Amino acid sequence: MLSLIGVLFLLFFSGVSAVQNIKVQGADYVNNVTSDRFQIIGIAYQPGGSAGFIGGSGIDPLSNGTLCLRDAALMQRLGVNTIRVYNLDPSLNHDLCASIFNAVGIYMLLDVNSPLPNESLNPGDLTSSYNSAYLNRVFAVVEAFKNFPNTLGFFSGNEVIQFSGSETVVPPYLRAVTRDLKQYISKHSSRNIPVGYSAADVRDFLADSFAYLSCDIDGSSSDETRIDFFGLNSYSWCGGDATFQTAGYDILVQMFGNTTIPVFFSEYGCNKVKPRVFNEVQALYGPEMTGVMSGGIIYEYVQESNEYGLVDLHDNGTATIRIDYNNLQKQYNKLDIKQLQSGNSSATMLKAPRCSGGLITGASFSKSFKVPSLPSGGQSLIDNGIQNPNNGKLVDVTETVVKLDVYGSNGGRIENLAIKPLPEDQSNTPNGQDTTGATTTTASGTSTGPKPESTTGGAGHLRMNLLLTCVALSVLALRST
Ligand SMILES: *[C@@H]1O[C@H](CO)[C@@H](O)[C@H](O)[C@H]1NC(C)=O
Ligand SMILES: *[C@@H]1O[C@H](CO)[C@@H](O)[C@H](O)[C@H]1NC(C)=O
Ligand SMILES: *[C@@H]1O[C@H](CO)[C@@H](O)[C@H](O)[C@H]1NC(C)=O
Ligand SMILES: *[C@@H]1O[C@H](CO)[C@@H](O)[C@H](O)[C@H]1NC(C)=O
Ligand SMILES: *[C@@H]1O[C@H](CO)[C@@H](O)[C@H](O)[C@H]1NC(C)=O
Ligand SMILES: *[C@@H]1O[C@H](CO)[C@@H](O)[C@H](O)[C@H]1NC(C)=O
Repeated sequence: MLSLIGVLFLLFFSGVSAVQNIKVQGADYVNNVTSDRFQIIGIAYQPGGSAGFIGGSGIDPLSNGTLCLRDAALMQRLGVNTIRVYNLDPSLNHDLCASIFNAVGIYMLLDVNSPLPNESLNPGDLTSSYNSAYLNRVFAVVEAFKNFPNTLGFFSGNEVIQFSGSETVVPPYLRAVTRDLKQYISKHSSRNIPVGYSAADVRDFLADSFAYLSCDIDGSSSDETRIDFFGLNSYSWCGGDATFQTAGYDILVQMFGNTTIPVFFSEYGCNKVKPRVFNEVQALYGPEMTGVMSGGIIYEYVQESNEYGLVDLHDNGTATIRIDYNNLQKQYNKLDIKQLQSGNSSATMLKAPRCSGGLITGASFSKSFKVPSLPSGGQSLIDNGIQNPNNGKLVDVTETVVKLDVYGSNGGRIENLAIKPLPEDQSNTPNGQDTTGATTTTASGTSTGPKPESTTGGAGHLRMNLLLTCVALSVLALRST
């Protein structure tokens, strides 16, 4: 009898719950189980910036669970469902951080490149930088993250087509790296993880980059050199007075109107007017854009010298929320999430256009779809896998309470800051939780600060129901003996 109770107990308490995978279906992201549409409500997460990424330091943005717990709790309250991380060391242990983000329904979009030598393509020296050491690096990132259910996709490149001249030589190499990553994933991952590109908003090259990378060379619909999604780093909406038209969002909707893959802002959040009010959020997730776009990623979580941050991180591990965080949270709280999750069957029937020089309008943009073949040693990496891969895996998240002090934008300490693990199939959604950090105590002794645990409800209720079910089953089992 005890063993039955024990089994029930274990069933309830020890399962590592996992988000459902998100897959690409035509021009949409969809939940692989519920078929709900998934729109990216995301934030860039690279504490220290790329300058803070130091090879061999043992530190990257997903290597310290204490810090990830603090940041995941703040991001869960903010309402995001995705982080983008730029520079990762695939040899580190990311299990706790990835598991914390998984527990709160936050997915990860990961760049495979880094600023370190041999860890990205050099547009000025493509033939020698596209080498097997480079491929080993990008495949190591796949190995490190392929087993996490909340890995949403990999960026094969970020703004590689940007400077004058790059548009002529880089595009075929981007298709090559995309192919290599997709072949590696198809051979060495149990799940098909999407691979895409993140483009600079250089208007002379943007439409051509999109057309070049998203077309189908062989018409087979399984062209591995074709990207699965397209991100655009967009900073054209500046300040509270901008509009859909003045920001040129109308032009983007037109440019991507025939897309056959998901398109989203892989960075956005112009800071020319401070503090930022983020009115563009209503446009991006509103009826004029969601038919074409799949959301976006706010640049960025941490305040750095370039002043795009939502949160100040201090060296002693404490953090202070900036007013921009509150402003963004207010915008997210206005979104109609049910509407955003509703599917769109017409977006699933789209056939990729066939590649041809006629798709490309710029005189200097590559019209060659002859994709470079693998560098020496590359094929064996794909066939046999890289040596000594460091495979991440989900672990139990036992700590949920943030022990580091976090202060609201008014200086008050935020009480009861914790992550709230969500049930299996849920991604995080805006939930209206207060993060102002007001800690003034009223006459009746109730705090006007952050609302207590019950505001999001879902997870707690499910667990309570499960617990009651377990108790009832145990009682029944006991009685039947
Ligand atoms: C880059 O890779 C090439 C080819 O494997 C290798 O010869 C070279 O030493 C590497 N450079 C660095 C800085 O690691
Ligand atoms: C979707 O779910 C099916 C059934 O569980 C699974 O076989 C498949 O690998 C999943 N696909 C992706 C892309 O996650
Ligand atoms: C979208 O497709 C329509 C119909 O084929 C075409 O007329 C239009 O030029 C296309 N738009 C873009 C931006 O490619
Ligand atoms: C559904 O997708 C089609 C094709 O991408 C698009 O034209 C249409 O606007 C979308 N509808 C909605 C409601 O998102
Ligand atoms: C941590 O550092 C910040 C910024 O320097 C400071 O304001 C705060 O008092 C420090 N907190 C602790 C607990 O040391
Ligand atoms: C993680 O960060 C905390 C807070 O800054 C620090 O105390 C701790 O030593 C770090 N842990 C590791 C393993 O680096």
